[in-house]
Amino acid sequence: MAAARTDWSPASWREFPAGQQPDWPDAGALDQALKQISALPPLVFAGEARSLQHELGRVASGNAFLLQAGDCAESFEDFSADLIREKLRVILQMAVVLTYSAGVPIVKVGRIAGQFAKPRSSPTEKVGEADIPSFRGYIVNDPTTTEAARQPDPQRLVQAYHQSASTLNLLRAFTKGGFADLSRVHAWTQEFVSSSPEGQRYQSLANEIDRALAFMRACGVDTESNPNLSEVDVFTSHEALILGYEEALTRVDTLTGAWVDCSAHMLWIGERTRELAGAHIEFLRGVANPVGCKLGPTSTVEETLEICEALNPSRIPGKLTLITRMGADAIEEVLPPLLRAVRESGHPVVWACDPMHGNTFTAPSGRKTRHFDDVVREIGGFVRTHRAEGTWPGGLHVELTGEDVTECLGGGDQLADADLDHRYETVCDPRLNARQSVDLAFHVAELLRDFT
Ligand code: TRP
Ligand code: MN
Repeated sequence: MAAARTDWSPASWREFPAGQQPDWPDAGALDQALKQISALPPLVFAGEARSLQHELGRVASGNAFLLQAGDCAESFEDFSADLIREKLRVILQMAVVLTYSAGVPIVKVGRIAGQFAKPRSSPTEKVGEADIPSFRGYIVNDPTTTEAARQPDPQRLVQAYHQSASTLNLLRAFTKGGFADLSRVHAWTQEFVSSSPEGQRYQSLANEIDRALAFMRACGVDTESNPNLSEVDVFTSHEALILGYEEALTRVDTLTGAWVDCSAHMLWIGERTRELAGAHIEFLRGVANPVGCKLGPTSTVEETLEICEALNPSRIPGKLTLITRMGADAIEEVLPPLLRAVRESGHPVVWACDPMHGNTFTAPSGRKTRHFDDVVREIGGFVRTHRAEGTWPGGLHVELTGEDVTECLGGGDQLADADLDHRYETVCDPRLNARQSVDLAFHVAELLRDFT
């Protein structure tokens, strides 16, 4: 275990080994950028993070379901109101289908408005004869394959802040301004169902939702005049990777006196930075936000319990989400002992399934991809394992976009390796496109229906 952790402060992570941090070439420039960010307003507010934690507490007890979705990595270049709106549209469509079939509220959290930084397997990349720094996300450097473009630039931290602010501004407007109206969102889904072969299969479920809406209208409840039916809360989240940036946005909540990381409502620790003795756990153990931690196929019972103790010693429901990314082949073997141990320990965690990261491979074309069927298979294994252990399969964590990209194989359009080149646009990992995402929601709906 780590040297005894005692006093926490927003800067105490600096005393611990921090993996995956960029090699900033100019310490003075970095300091200056972080000072600049420290003086800027918070992106989210403490009360919002508290209400997300409260909702996640309902997920932990089996009375709600978490949908966490968005880009693998946001881009400084592909950034527009249209892209954000389309991404939100898909998340809402998935949420309607899941709300109806699970019969519980869906807690909606975007990988958005701050999801910029990427951990890398190697600090450098070979380009021709030269070793240049790896691309670590737009918050650090530029993807162009030249030495100069790959130099970490601290002003990008400031740009990431501003892009997050304008993304959040749009999200707040769209979620409260009529765009999220239940009937409207469902009408888009009906379009999907009637216009596509994969959709046909879902006709009856979609019709049931239609009838439910018609029933409510007949009873005098129309969606436009009822904020419960026309507005949603969509929270923000990202991997808390670049700790200087997170520290600069960590502020005292004047109401409770607690430290809150105001860069997003929820932060998570990735598969590559969850060392118990490391800086990422040190940082996130001290903030009042709900936090997540990825667990991979090598996660052990001991490690998982220590993570629970480190990140949620007071055992607050909704505080900790464990996001499993085991791979479709491994999940049913690796997950059961973890579920049992956490249940027996009494830790009130949210269990979420990331069916993307354990199923990534390089196709013969050389493209990094994932197969839709593996994604569905891992979720199937996740749900089955929870059913067998008597625990609640509390959530889904996926990488998607609202665009018609060709990055993942399979799905209703039966995308093949040869199709990937057509529209492969991701900055990092392959994402489900809009149709694959809605399709996935219907699959999960079928799995959850058997559950509840
Ligand atoms: N406000 C409710 C919710 O967030 C119902 C709702 C309104 C809704 N619009 C929605 C649900 C769009 C999902 C998607 O659950
Ligand atoms: Mn990813």
